[in-house]
Amino acid sequence: PHFDCSGKLALIHNGIVDNYEELGKKIRGHKLLGQTDSEIIVHLIERELTKTQNLLSAVKKVAKMTTGFNAFVVIHQDYPYLVAAKTGSPLVIGLNPGNNLVSSDVASLLSHTNKVIFLEDNQIARISPDEVRLENFSSVREIKPLVQTINWTAKSASKSGFPHFMLKEIYDQPAVLAKIAESKVKEARQLASSIAKAKNVFAVACGTASYAALAGQYLFACIAGQQVIPAIGSEFYYYDGAIGTRSLCLALSQSGETIDTLQSVSFAKSRGAKTVSLVNVQGSSLDRLSDQTILLAAGPEKAVASTKAFSAKVALLLLTASALKRKIPRAVIEIKQAVRAIRKILSPDYQKYLKKLASGFKHVHSIFILGRGISYPAALEAALKIKEVSYIHAEGFAAGELKHGVIALISQRTPCLVFAPNDETYSDVISGAMEVKARGGLIIGISHKPNPQFDYYLPVADSGNATILGNVVVAQCLAYYLAVARGLDPDMPRNLAKSVTV
Ligand code: F6R
Repeated sequence: PHFDCSGKLALIHNGIVDNYEELGKKIRGHKLLGQTDSEIIVHLIERELTKTQNLLSAVKKVAKMTTGFNAFVVIHQDYPYLVAAKTGSPLVIGLNPGNNLVSSDVASLLSHTNKVIFLEDNQIARISPDEVRLENFSSVREIKPLVQTINWTAKSASKSGFPHFMLKEIYDQPAVLAKIAESKVKEARQLASSIAKAKNVFAVACGTASYAALAGQYLFACIAGQQVIPAIGSEFYYYDGAIGTRSLCLALSQSGETIDTLQSVSFAKSRGAKTVSLVNVQGSSLDRLSDQTILLAAGPEKAVASTKAFSAKVALLLLTASALKRKIPRAVIEIKQAVRAIRKILSPDYQKYLKKLASGFKHVHSIFILGRGISYPAALEAALKIKEVSYIHAEGFAAGELKHGVIALISQRTPCLVFAPNDETYSDVISGAMEVKARGGLIIGISHKPNPQFDYYLPVADSGNATILGNVVVAQCLAYYLAVARGLDPDMPRNLAKSVTV
């Protein structure tokens, strides 16, 4: 928290105040300890309080002065309530009589309550232990809040005996996927029918979710002959000429709060496109913004690195692509096969081996990951997981690109993960592995069968179009064990936040 000059007023802030320089000029003479925009805000509120003697109005006035995407929560010794204001970043109030709460993330509230109010932009709340009063910035009239019940349990947001959330969430995947195969068929069919009607379809997302979107592109093309254009959230605007009233913008997000994804959906709406979201957090900004939502039903994901939400998105895209060709029964079987394959990966012996492997590679400088076809997004996702939790440089490549430059990076004993599933990419990706091996690289093969090119072999049973799920789980585990072997906390990687709201 940042304090005002008196030390009586404290503020927490999520976001970036774009016009902080200009606002800073208004508080000359105030005693600032640091150089953050947050501190300027708390002093501005202090200044307003001297004029109004009303904490809510003072915060409202200052929040209105700010530009950018922000959330502020303020407490003052002389006032028996908190004030929370939202201009972009997420804010959710947990209703627990006698002990109301406020947070940026609903998962953090679940051990106290599942009754919540999501603040909208330009709303401000006065939160006392027993009462919540909501207003818009533009009026002093009380607005009736929409209270939502979140169907996640407190247990699902706990580590359940695992040392880290990341590992627990990796282990959640068989159950999540089984549930999707059983319960999401109807929604997948509806989405397929919207896709079939659209002139063009964009799958918009960021980070791990964007790799799920890329996997979707391959699934739709190969299962249904349907083009789906993956677009990174921050790049979506540049497709402007192609987005219109007959476009479908399919947004993918775990948190539902990623600002680039949200802005893409708003942009698509402004062009008259239909918007559908695959989102994990019920009531999140994306859920509220989209014309239609399919909840991923993966349960709370608390580790910063996304694992089960990725698998849930890919499984839903597989069902949807299959629905376009009336092949849902086959997709359900494939997802169930992937569930069995993942259970084997999560068995104690397999995990022991992965742990040992990670410990042997914990000091390497770089790891490369190769895949072709749908294993290309798997390679990108594997690399991202390794980078973000172990801080080891990792790059995923389309194996065919090796000879176009990447091979220059291979030196003696460079570890190279190779996805070699039982599909049309097998022999070509093995050729890539041979090229790497010929230059001294070490091959860690992830495949349904051993191959003489593999220095290390990580089996993943074939599950047709759903094989990517098991393949990525192996990489998630490897990333996790690399982080642990290096003495890092995989749940809280440096410089990263769970929801990227700025
Ligand atoms: C990587 C990771 C991020 C998120 C990205 C999008 O492990 O977690 O790359 O995938 O920030 O987040 P959501 O899915 O919440 O929109």
